[in-house]
Amino acid sequence: MKSIPATTLRRLEKAARAAAKASYSPYSKFPVGAAVLAGSGKIYPGCNVENASYPLCNCAERTAIFTATAQGEREVRAVAVYTPTPTASSPCGACRQVINEFGPTALVICICDGPGRIDTTLDQLLPSAFGPKNLL
Ligand code: THU
Repeated sequence: MKSIPATTLRRLEKAARAAAKASYSPYSKFPVGAAVLAGSGKIYPGCNVENASYPLCNCAERTAIFTATAQGEREVRAVAVYTPTPTASSPCGACRQVINEFGPTALVICICDGPGRIDTTLDQLLPSAFGPKNLL
């Protein structure tokens, strides 16, 4: 995988932090932001979007990936996620599966309000994933 310049990763992190400002999270009061670096080199932001029917809440990571996909992107090179917490936390299982579809080896960067961070890859978070190659 081609390496991603540090300046691009910094822009991605900044976009994830900024994206949380648009979060619609009246139920959890937990505003999350994400940003995806797509194959074209463009960055797509996303936030969590909740619903009065709680199970229909959509995580920030999935909003960002679906936004990128709707713009024609088919490759996820990196995902940054910001949570409003003192320590960093990594994407939920559903988001890991969705990232896998377009970025099985994507970088995953998790940032928060503290100095802690998680720098990892999707295949570390979701080993032996089920993906497009597993279908007939
Ligand atoms: N949430 C995300 O958007 N991303 C994560 O990585 C963790 C959880 C959202 C879902 C829900 O709107 C709220 O945070 C509380 O779980």
